[in-house]
Amino acid sequence: MIFLMTNDFNQIQKLMKTNLLIITAILLTVVSLSAQNTLTIQANQAKTKINKEIYGHFSEHLGTCIYEGIYVGNDSKIPNIDGFRTDVVTAFKELKVPVLRWPGGCFADTYHWKDGIGPKENRPSIVNVHWGNVTEDNSFGTHEFLNFCELIGTEPYLSINVGSGTVQEASEWVEYVTSANENPMSELRKKNGREDPWNVKFWGIGNETWGCGGDMRPEYYADVYRHYAGYIRGNNLQKIAVGPSSNDYNWTEKMMIGLQDKKHLVQGLSLHHYTLPTGSWSGSKGSSTEFGEDMYFTTLKRTIQIEELIQNHLAIMDKYDPEKRIGLAVDEWGTWYDALPGTNPGFLQQQNTVRDAVVAAINLNIFNNHADRITMANIAQVVNVLQAMILTKGALMVKTPTYYVFKLFNVHQEATLIPTELKCEDYVFNGEKLPSVSSSASIKDGVTSVTLCNLNPNKAVAVECNIAGADYKTASGKIVNSANITDYNDFDQPEKVFIKDFSVAKPKNGKLTVELPAHSVVLVQLQ
Ligand code: AHR
Repeated sequence: MIFLMTNDFNQIQKLMKTNLLIITAILLTVVSLSAQNTLTIQANQAKTKINKEIYGHFSEHLGTCIYEGIYVGNDSKIPNIDGFRTDVVTAFKELKVPVLRWPGGCFADTYHWKDGIGPKENRPSIVNVHWGNVTEDNSFGTHEFLNFCELIGTEPYLSINVGSGTVQEASEWVEYVTSANENPMSELRKKNGREDPWNVKFWGIGNETWGCGGDMRPEYYADVYRHYAGYIRGNNLQKIAVGPSSNDYNWTEKMMIGLQDKKHLVQGLSLHHYTLPTGSWSGSKGSSTEFGEDMYFTTLKRTIQIEELIQNHLAIMDKYDPEKRIGLAVDEWGTWYDALPGTNPGFLQQQNTVRDAVVAAINLNIFNNHADRITMANIAQVVNVLQAMILTKGALMVKTPTYYVFKLFNVHQEATLIPTELKCEDYVFNGEKLPSVSSSASIKDGVTSVTLCNLNPNKAVAVECNIAGADYKTASGKIVNSANITDYNDFDQPEKVFIKDFSVAKPKNGKLTVELPAHSVVLVQLQ
């Protein structure tokens, strides 16, 4: 504002004009700032259930995921329950793992389940050809996996060998695991110490049959799928066909055409999409710990692409399945970086930073918002491999930032999705932009949970939540973040990144402003 002592009428007029312009500019700035980031929550419009399986996991005979990570054997000095690490069991119980996929991945298509049953000393050793050519002694097999699932209270999701297996082998596995009738396979199971069948609902028929699972064309695999699915019998089984890799829309189209007249044989089509900071499968993918804002930005950019992939694949699926009987199962997703220096490159070991927490939150919010069509999602992988929940070193164990994001988001499991509309400013880097906020909301037992993530690593972002259709009296919050995007939890500093309480103001007249710190993941609960 400009003040001047004068009697000159023209000058006074000029000054008034200038002042008016300044006041208008201030007002416009205030209005645009306050309206910059808004989340409209239609609290009374919730109708779609968020399947708990969206919070699913994946375990493969790869590196130290199974051996060392989950299973150390009864004779180990590491505390264990029937050979399963006690610390890992406790951490998974706390996490409420809803579903766990096994035995692969690429490994599944070299796995012959009969190698992994019966007395351990009689089980053959094989070479794990996909992952470092290490010896696989089959000491962790069907019984061990299914008992582990019972122990941690999770639904198993078994992946059938299509690449090098047979229809007979597959149908016998299903019978061995699930049959309560008298037949050779249930007799064999009983002989091996398990009287009652296990309740295994989810069966994947092959894995990446377009690649490591047989290099098939979709037209051919669609027929193979029909053959296998027809012989996999049981009550209420959910059979999942191999779907596309990332943006392979041709695969989705051909699969849907090939299965169009046999929809009763398929309950899900999978999608695999990994986030590589550089986008390159052949060269360096980028480091998991040493990166600047450029790699942070591209990682988030490639993560967000999954929204477009989901929309496009669903559009194709809906064309051939307008009744929407077939769900989308994103049964492999997550970050994939260069293996940690000094580790076996075939073991896919990487660290997990605040960047991974942000990646997890973006993906989970996207999956929630597509809860009507996404029936399951499984992050790769659960321990010691890729974007893991847990890292182990000998007897030590550490929970990663991704673990804490999953724990924060658990409130959405089996909750009802609340429709929301998000308007937010851009996070701009080197002339490129991303939305600065990711969000989703749900309601369960009268509590509304809103998960928010600020992608911007440089500044806090205030989000004004406008709540329609409910009068909340209280609000509470939790947050996952740390000072730097490169921060991670290590064995000597296991809680650098973890869940802390986060204070939020009480909602007033249907409004609540949440100030999200830079690169943070926040849960707000309203009642
Ligand atoms: O998760 C690691 C590997 O990635 C899986 O074995 C395979 O399915 C995918 O290519």
